[in-house]
Amino acid sequence: MESIRLDFTYGLEAGQILQSLSEGKDVAAAEGVKKDLERAYRTLLDGTGAGSDFLGWVRLPSRIPEAELSSMTEKAEAFRKKSRLFVCIGIGGSYLGTRAVVEALKPRLADRIPGSPALIYAGHHLEQDYMAELLELLDSHDYTLCVISKSGTTTEPAIAFRLLRNHLEKKYGKEEAKNRIVAVTDKAKGALRTLATEEGYATYTVPDDIGGRYSVLSPVGLFPLAVAGVDIKGLVAGAKSMQQELVADRIDWQRNIAARYALFRQLQYRQGGMKAELLVDFDSRFHYLGEWWKQLFGESEGKQGKGLFPCNAGFTTDLHSLGQYIQEGERLFFESVLSLQRQKKRVVIPQDARNLDGMDFVAGKEMAYVNQKAEEGTLMAHSGKGNVPVARILVPGLDACHIGQLIYFFEFACGLSGYSMNVNPFDQPGVEAYKQNMFRLLGKPS
Ligand code: PA5
Repeated sequence: MESIRLDFTYGLEAGQILQSLSEGKDVAAAEGVKKDLERAYRTLLDGTGAGSDFLGWVRLPSRIPEAELSSMTEKAEAFRKKSRLFVCIGIGGSYLGTRAVVEALKPRLADRIPGSPALIYAGHHLEQDYMAELLELLDSHDYTLCVISKSGTTTEPAIAFRLLRNHLEKKYGKEEAKNRIVAVTDKAKGALRTLATEEGYATYTVPDDIGGRYSVLSPVGLFPLAVAGVDIKGLVAGAKSMQQELVADRIDWQRNIAARYALFRQLQYRQGGMKAELLVDFDSRFHYLGEWWKQLFGESEGKQGKGLFPCNAGFTTDLHSLGQYIQEGERLFFESVLSLQRQKKRVVIPQDARNLDGMDFVAGKEMAYVNQKAEEGTLMAHSGKGNVPVARILVPGLDACHIGQLIYFFEFACGLSGYSMNVNPFDQPGVEAYKQNMFRLLGKPS
């Protein structure tokens, strides 16, 4: 299978360094950062760094038991048969991976993958009107639900689950409600585990050694994805092929795309003075992958006063809003572009004899060709006059396998990049600050 690749044509000085490395040449200007990444690589693979209790994701794709995939697929099939809607309750790492994959793979204007229940999210915020509308909608549709929380104590999903459990029990009765709930949580700890055991819900376990933002290839993502109609075996196979490409005895700078991407980022951060990374796409199916990526890099690197601020934009739409700033505003960021190489369908722009709209210069061309030229033109402008260095991540197609590759690629690059800056990429102590204030204001007993 064709794999995702990197292109540094528009990468400016760092791009030339990366190009030289991929030709097997040594580059003095990158020596320090390269050494840090080589050290980080060993730390990650030997499990000798901070947060080493959370490295289960590194070898997860090759270790997912076939029996677990089959059990999830079977249970998912039972849910698919009895639901028109499937509610997925979770927040942060317990939600974003699922949404990223589903949004990338479902048809553009449909609310679901054909033949599957529509996936609705809950517990990812505290919006009252959203919940009221959801409860109303669920009155008139058959549904099942999955509640996902590793800690089993997170406020947003716990409140959503309380409301939805209540609704489900009123609608179907307590016994049938049980057949419509799956909980994904810790094997022993947390309120959700206690509740699931008391009530007799079906459960899947979040492995101890995998943190939220690295958990999409565990039951956290795989079960809801199977219900949503995603080919989870293809997703895992893609991730496994990327694991095989990236995990070795040492970094092969010609082959290891995660190390090359991490090097590009670190060169921008340390030598280019950049403060932010802008992940852009020219296909909105990547939008939620960008949301997932923001959490992955933001929570992994943003600590001890360090880290690139991760942000995203969708082109060409946002060229008509952010384009001006990117071209001529403060030089704060570099761009990483998710560049989709193949569309699933064909649309040719028709001839028009009168040409009143002046668009005849593209008549007979596919829209994808115009989008591709927009991408090239944009990257030339940004990296040229705009002086914004650009790295391209070339994605051969939007299917489960390539999304699996992308997920593992970003996870690995993130672990490496974090360790190379001497931060623990697997904790998120800063997330607690708002919660403590909120709990105090709400009068939560300590
Ligand atoms: O990355 C993380 O660990 C967090 O974003 C969590 O995923 C998020 O807070 C949800 O936590 P939990 O699954 O415990 O409800």
